[in-house]
Amino acid sequence: MKLLKFKWQQIILCLGCLLLIIACQSSRPSTNPGAKLLKVATDPTFVPFEIQKADGKLEGFDIDLMNAIAASAGFTVQFEKLPFDGMISTLQAGKVDAAISGITITPERLKTISFSRPYFKAGLAIAVRENNQDIQNLNSLKGRKIAVQIGSTGADFAKTIPNAKISTFNSGPEFFQDLLNGNVDAVIGDAFATLYAINNGQLKGIKVVADLLTEEYYGIATSKSSPHMDAINNAIATVLSNGTYKQIYQKWFKAEPPQLPDSPPLGKVKQLNAATVFYHS
Ligand code: ARG
Repeated sequence: MKLLKFKWQQIILCLGCLLLIIACQSSRPSTNPGAKLLKVATDPTFVPFEIQKADGKLEGFDIDLMNAIAASAGFTVQFEKLPFDGMISTLQAGKVDAAISGITITPERLKTISFSRPYFKAGLAIAVRENNQDIQNLNSLKGRKIAVQIGSTGADFAKTIPNAKISTFNSGPEFFQDLLNGNVDAVIGDAFATLYAINNGQLKGIKVVADLLTEEYYGIATSKSSPHMDAINNAIATVLSNGTYKQIYQKWFKAEPPQLPDSPPLGKVKQLNAATVFYHS
């Protein structure tokens, strides 16, 4: 009898241990056991930074970079699709741990969220219909109809153009469609994204007016109180120095990456002139 009781105790103890092991296993992400799960928001309507393929999978420069950062920092990434305009409030509310979405580091945004060191040198450009001859530069945009993405730096820039009539859209494909339909005269948006779409035949009938309007830098955003920013910044430094960044840049842009500053040169939106155009064809 005593022996039987002892066996029962042993069985219960073993079952308990088994349950504990199963519980521990299932609470861990399967891809990288032991890694911290990082929920990362992205708006996959922005070629070639974040795009959703027909099968639902995400791809793009930002997606590759975030995965490389995660591998270096020991995170497992779970991407969450979110409209660009809602990203900052979602970060603030702590519903995601970070966001990567071609987000420009601006003094205004830095008041409410944190940014990593710059990971991409970008800028705004004017796009018009291919047959348009009269919009050549910023001056010719006065009083024109302009389409922009809601909540973007392009939208902020458009507000500074005298008498411009601004239409706002949720995503890139929509505002370019409006331009093609003839509802607006121009789009102000991120130069790299527009040029990529034109060069890859995804945007037909549209051209970019040569001057860049601004110099901007993209950063990975987190809430102000994020415990992950140091790890993210260290991982960016690692992928920049070990050749991974260069590989990803070349994969998407077929060009050498430019030098990146350690911190963004902030200040009023920097106006550039034709001489500083940086498109690599
Ligand atoms: N760089 C611009 C900004 O920060 C636009 C980024 C749009 N990104 C996107 N995934 N839709 O305002």
